[in-house]
This record gives sequence, C-alpha cells and structure tokens, in this order.
Amino acid sequence: MSETPKTMGQQFGRRSWAEPWKIKMVEPLTVTTREEREQAAIEAGFNTFLLKSKDVYIDLLTDSGTGAMSDRQWAGMMMGDEAYAGSRNFYHLEAAVQKYYGYKHVVPTHQGRGAEHMISQAVIKKGQIVPGNMYFTTTRLHQELAGGTFQDVIIDEAHDPSNLHPFKGNIDLDKVQALIDKVGADGIAYISVAGTVNMAGGQPVSMENIKALRALCDKHGVKVYLDATRIMENSYFIQQREEGYANKTIAEIAKEFCSYTDAAWMSAKKDSLVNIGGWLAVNDWDLFEELRNLVVVYEGLHTYGGQAGRDMEALAIGIEESVQDDHIRTRIGQVLYLGELLVDWGVPIVQPIGGHAIFLDAKAFYPHLKQVEFPAQTLAAELYLDSGIRAMERGIVSGGRDPKTGDHYYPKLELTRLTIPRRVYTQAHMDVVAESVKAVYDQRESTRGLKMVYEPKYLRFFQARFERL
Ligand SMILES: Cc1ncc(COP(=O)(O)O)c(C=O)c1O
Repeated sequence: MSETPKTMGQQFGRRSWAEPWKIKMVEPLTVTTREEREQAAIEAGFNTFLLKSKDVYIDLLTDSGTGAMSDRQWAGMMMGDEAYAGSRNFYHLEAAVQKYYGYKHVVPTHQGRGAEHMISQAVIKKGQIVPGNMYFTTTRLHQELAGGTFQDVIIDEAHDPSNLHPFKGNIDLDKVQALIDKVGADGIAYISVAGTVNMAGGQPVSMENIKALRALCDKHGVKVYLDATRIMENSYFIQQREEGYANKTIAEIAKEFCSYTDAAWMSAKKDSLVNIGGWLAVNDWDLFEELRNLVVVYEGLHTYGGQAGRDMEALAIGIEESVQDDHIRTRIGQVLYLGELLVDWGVPIVQPIGGHAIFLDAKAFYPHLKQVEFPAQTLAAELYLDSGIRAMERGIVSGGRDPKTGDHYYPKLELTRLTIPRRVYTQAHMDVVAESVKAVYDQRESTRGLKMVYEPKYLRFFQARFERL
C-alpha cells in the first residue's frame, strides 16, 4: 500500500497547511458601493444568475468551470490538435479517463449535461423509474425528458441539515430493494449514483455503500451508473473517514469506487480543473456503439464531442492533477476553513461540511419566512447586497415543479450555496466571506422574503425573476 504524501505542515509536526501552488497571474476584482449593488440586484430580478460578473466581488456562484488552470494545462492548450477527426488530444483524454476512472470506452461531450442527455436518451424506456441519491437539476430533467421518473433513494439523514452522518450521500438499500419488489428490475432504468451529492451539501458516498449497492444490483440484474463529477472529492472523504482507506491514495480510491459501477458521466468543469468539457464512459460495447452514434447528432464527432482539441488536452492534464492528494486536501481544506469559521460564529450550515461548498441553512436563518417566500433565494440576494459576494439558491426554486401535478416540489432542504472555485481564492477571501455571512445573519429578523414574478419552463432557477415582498 502506498503511503499518502504529507503536507509540509504535517511533515514538520505542525497543524497548518498551505496551497501547493503559487500565483503566477492575477485578475483584479471589482468593489462596488451598496447603491450600485441595490441597482444591480433589482436589474437582475434578485437572481444571482442574472447578475453581470463585473458587478460581483467574490464569485461563489458555482465551482463549475470557474477553477484556475495550471501552467501545465495552459501549456497543453498550446498543443491543441484542431483536426476535425482523430485529434491526438482526444487520445490523451481517453487514456486519462481509462487510467484514472477505469472504464473501457470514452465519448467526449461539451459538458456534463450533454453526457446526461445522451445516456438518458440511450437507456431510459418510457415509464421506467430512475432511482438516485437525491436529484440533481439537470440530471433529473434529462431523465424526465427521456420518459423516466426520478425517485429519491438517498438515506433519510441526507434531508436533515444538522445530522452528522459521515456519509450522508449513501443510498438506502432498503429503499432500492422495496422499489425492485414493487416495479421489478425491468421497471428500473438504472441506479443513478452521484458522489459527492451536490444538493445534499456536497456529501459523500462510502465505499461500503457502493459495494453493497453493486451486490444488490447484481442479484437483480440492475445497472449502476455514476455521476463522477466530484468523485475525487468523494474519494477524499473516504480516505479521511472510512476504515481501511487512510493509507490509500485518492487515485486508488477513485478507481476502486468506479469499478463498482457500469458507466459514468462527467462534468469535467469541477474535479478536473477545466473551464469546459465532459465525457461519458462505459464498459458495455453495445451501449458505447449507441452513444458514439448519438454524439455525432448532438455534440460533434466522437473524437471531440463539442470540445476543441486544446480543451481536451487541458482536461487530460487536469485529470492527472485532480488525483494529487495534496491538491484535494487543500481544495477541501479551504471549504472546511470557511465552514468552521461559520460554525464557530453560530451560523447555521449543513453539517458535516461538504466537499465543494458551504450550504447555509436558509430555513434556520429565516424561520419567519414561508418556503414559498423563497428563503434561500432571499439569503443569496442579501449576501450580494451586503458585500457583492455571489452565492446560489439550492431550495424550492432549484427544486422546480412536479411535471405531473404542476406544484412546487418543496424540497426539505432550503439552502444557499457558497461554492468555492478551485485554486482561485485565498484564505483572506474566505475571511471576508465569513464576515459578510455573519453580518447578514445578524440582520436576519428584519429580512423580508421575495415573490417570483417570472418563471421559465425549464430549470427555472437559472432565469427566474423576483421582487421584494
Ligand atoms: C452533480 C452534477 N451533475 C451534473 C452537472 C451538470 O454538469 P454541467 O454543468 O457541466 O452541464 C453538475 C453541474 O453543476 C453537477 O454538479
């Protein structure tokens, strides 16, 4: 078993760690006045997705495509082979996915939802159930558009923001078994597993759980597909929390995890440290054939799938960087740093602290607001007004509507997400963020909610507009 490399701090017996990189290029930030932010918030309909980035100070909207690439990745960009067919960069990407994720066949896509679209169209039959460990917005929508019905099979603890279960992303095997008993294996398209679980607060799935799911699914002939978007972060939590994994590397853990699944899709804009890109990878040849066919209809030829050659090169290098233990420790260490500050100050957040973001518990922030007064949307708007920090709603607005009844979904979790981009901000930025959250928390009792005045049909959280009540 290889020994996990230690940070400098650990090697010298100290507690602190530092980023395993230094800054080579900087991008100036804009500081606005309160009046300017009031104006910008009104123009954006109190939706942080509709703000112009020039009006944002610290941008914690998402960790998707917002990371900083390394000098090696930028050098790789210069080696782009922009041939329409057979670009050498595709073969580098294919080899990196095979090496670190372990699947046999790889189809590139422009980003995660391109992959979700194709896998959903390829395998879901109308009327089938797609059980998953909590929904993700684009994943569920593509499953629904393909004729499937999502069903949540995550453990109950995941819906409780203060429950300290170490693997709140786990699948409840009893729920899966009950579903198989009810609709039969044929009634299930596949089990849709995400690690970590974004909407639950970046919570991980344990190795024990995925192994047990594999055994259960093998018994019934059900496939297990993985949303591998943050599987390297998931692997860090396994290394830290699960018995028998402390001395395994992130690369070893991730590959073992993937080995219990039949296929995966990826939004490479997260773990893999690139600004755009994704892929689908499968072991089954016939499914690969189908996907390789679909990709030319929706994304591009099967050796670029909507990416430029240079993008695929940066991604191949990013995959290699993403499995470095020092990188992942620092990345999650920064999230923990911010979260622990907030916990110390009594601010209600989802615990345990997850991998890619701090999720503020908006229901606990604003107990006087009803869920239809959009507490998490309100909190994101208040944070922006206080300091120009941009967060994102992950509650009833993101939940959307049930396509059958037309009513809101009313998720139990009503959260505002402070998402930390990879290798972009320093610990000093985290201090500023924590202070702003505290200031907004201190004014919570006088905060009013919002009403929705414009609602788009699909993925409404991106473009909905609100006014103050
Ligand atoms: C867990 C998860 N799956 C899928 C996606 C969709 O990926 P993309 O935004 O690249 O289309 C995301 C994006 O946020 C995600 O977090």
